[in-house]
Amino acid sequence: MTQIFNMTNNNINDEQICLAAKVINKGGVVAFPTETVYGLGADGFNESAVAKIFSAKGRPSDNPLILHISQKSMLSGIAREIPPIAEQLMNMFWPGPLTLIFKKTLHIPKKVTGNLDTVAVRMPSNKIARKLIESAGVPIAAPSANISGRPSPTKAQHVIEDLKDKVDIIIASDNSEIGLESTVLDLTDSIPVLLRPGSITLNQLRSVLGQVDVDPSLLEKKNIFKPKAPGMKYKHYSPKAPLKIVQGEQSKVIEKINELSSIYRFEGKKVGIIATNDTKDKYKADMVFNLGNRCKPLEITNNLFDILRACDTYSIDSILSEGFSTDGIEMAIMNRLVKAAGYDILQV
Ligand code: TXA
Ligand code: MG
Repeated sequence: MTQIFNMTNNNINDEQICLAAKVINKGGVVAFPTETVYGLGADGFNESAVAKIFSAKGRPSDNPLILHISQKSMLSGIAREIPPIAEQLMNMFWPGPLTLIFKKTLHIPKKVTGNLDTVAVRMPSNKIARKLIESAGVPIAAPSANISGRPSPTKAQHVIEDLKDKVDIIIASDNSEIGLESTVLDLTDSIPVLLRPGSITLNQLRSVLGQVDVDPSLLEKKNIFKPKAPGMKYKHYSPKAPLKIVQGEQSKVIEKINELSSIYRFEGKKVGIIATNDTKDKYKADMVFNLGNRCKPLEITNNLFDILRACDTYSIDSILSEGFSTDGIEMAIMNRLVKAAGYDILQV
């Protein structure tokens, strides 16, 4: 039986936070909000507690977890080396949606790092997440609180759908502020490498660090490239129906999507189209989903995973989506769409 605690960022129930922290300290698992997506947390130093996360999610065991901390002082028990550039990044972006990869200390259970010699760490800015970590007094290992392979949860309801009766507590709170998982940056080589794009953009990182390399598998499927973040190799964020992205000049995209939509509908399929404010009225399909205003990428991030989940709810058979550029936050949006589409992109 899962207990569900309801609270908002503006009205935190301290008693329930203490109860949730005790459950973490006893080796239980607690789903909690962060400013990105909801996380599924356990004591990062307790191997058997961490194992419960993997079984609740059905997560492959070689996919390592992020340790969430509430104060910089917690880092010394986790990271073996803290390079000077990490200090700069932490000062600028923590607390916030930036995960840094360090060489790990011996204290971290292998289960957390999927046997790697490195460890991912982030300090979330969400107040509930911070209080929970603070009360538990240990780093909380937490992946996104979804069943493995499904779109990450940006609303409490998504977590309840996926994990009710599989975890001890779900802290049901506000919708995510940023609907995409954190930016992941590897600091263990001489040149930092972007392993997962997020709302902290490549340009922001380059403006602090100068050179930042990009993992070549982020937007293109090339078998020679094995992503450095083990999680990025799995089919991800996926609705049940196949998704195709149509990329190019707007008028051509609309034309191509309508053409494909009519073919699929002729085949008897229920077609869903993922559109934006300016284009949503230009499509013919069974359902048109609106991601929002292209000029406001944060609005798009807040709708993306919810819409991918809605495609399942409405039993869509075929999904067609507009594409995004690879600039700024759009790089992260496009990365998640590309993964959800299994790299099925049509250029027009
Ligand atoms: O915003 C977020 O980061 C959310 C919230 C809950 O904090 N968490 C999240 O966790 O997205 P998860 O487990 O869904 O994604 C973690 C990603 C995976 O792609 C994983 O492979 C990568 O980080 N990762 C973790 N440890 C790593 C390591 N030592 N080296 C390389 N990649 C690592
Ligand atoms: Mg995830």
